[in-house]
Amino acid sequence: MAIIDTFSNVVDTLPLMKDATASGNLQVLRSLLGPAFRGMIQKRGKRGELSSMPVDYSVSFDWNYLRDKPDLARLYEAAKSSQWNGTTDLDWSTSVDPLSDETALLPWDFLPISNLASFIKASPKERAEQRRGITGWLLSQSLHGEQGALFAACQVTEAVPWLDAKLYGSTQVMDEGRHVEVFHAYLTKKLEKKYEINDNLYVVIDALMSDSRWDMKFLGMQIMIEGLALGTFGMIQQMTREPLLKKLLTYIITDEARHVHYGVLALKDFLTQLTEKERREREDWAFEVSLFLRNRFFAHEFYDEYYGHAMSRQQWERLVIESEMMTRFRKTMFKRVIPNLKRIGLLSDRIKPKYAELGLLGFEYGKAAPDLTATDLINDRD
Ligand SMILES: [Fe+2]
Ligand SMILES: [Fe+2]
Repeated sequence: MAIIDTFSNVVDTLPLMKDATASGNLQVLRSLLGPAFRGMIQKRGKRGELSSMPVDYSVSFDWNYLRDKPDLARLYEAAKSSQWNGTTDLDWSTSVDPLSDETALLPWDFLPISNLASFIKASPKERAEQRRGITGWLLSQSLHGEQGALFAACQVTEAVPWLDAKLYGSTQVMDEGRHVEVFHAYLTKKLEKKYEINDNLYVVIDALMSDSRWDMKFLGMQIMIEGLALGTFGMIQQMTREPLLKKLLTYIITDEARHVHYGVLALKDFLTQLTEKERREREDWAFEVSLFLRNRFFAHEFYDEYYGHAMSRQQWERLVIESEMMTRFRKTMFKRVIPNLKRIGLLSDRIKPKYAELGLLGFEYGKAAPDLTATDLINDRD
């Protein structure tokens, strides 16, 4: 990579790198610096080629085949009876017009640019193009997150020590393969607009994949990334008027609700057995990950394409922070993450003020993981 590129990446990401130190926990800082360097400075997710991520964890075999986790066994049964086929259960013959107002991908007021004078003055076609861009950006990040979830599900299936959790994990691997398949098909065949992975999302995926501890993988993927995805998918599913996207998200949300619940079941007892120092490290790590996940919604890849020439990155971030998209993000996207952090013991009085500062604490007393029956999981789509 040219030195000049590296320098400009450093300048662009300095404010975001600062977030990697927000909790003040040195151990957390140490574990996030490598992923932050690879994602934000080296831009490993944006090189347009296969990228390899070295991993270091132990695979745990259970030769006793002990079935002693009934909650996880029930979730496994629910997963087996809720499988669907992305090829035949979705109507791919639906004609999708990404520029249509009638079957609008997203409402105008949700777009972070909706109040910009230049956007208001633009032609209807140009505005519709940008709406296609934002939708493509959001769904591209979902696609990349799904690829991360596919591999993270493989990792936890290998590493978690309980057989019932491994059996359930095998269904998540299948679910995530299907999610990658349908998001990719929708983006390439229907929207015809795909973006590279956002650096912040890359950092979180790198951090949880390269951590040697299996519980950190559950915390980063099932609790944080998938909890947030559940909120995001629910919001887009309710807002979009494009029927194929609505249906596709309805199916995916049902699967994701199970995955988040899997994380809660795997962690809730395990984390109580840790020392206070170990628990704190996870609490601080989860907070740092929240910041990275919030920052991914700055949509820098969309900014680079449409607004990089018109305003600075700082001006763009201010615009996004004040937008309806970010307001909704704070109001609804964390509604699963916060109660679940509380349920697994990672929302102590020590960390709450930090979440409150970000405006994310509103859901402390909200509903945590859904109930266990398949019907409940299906009804839990919002
Ligand atoms: Fe998924
Ligand atoms: Fe998932």
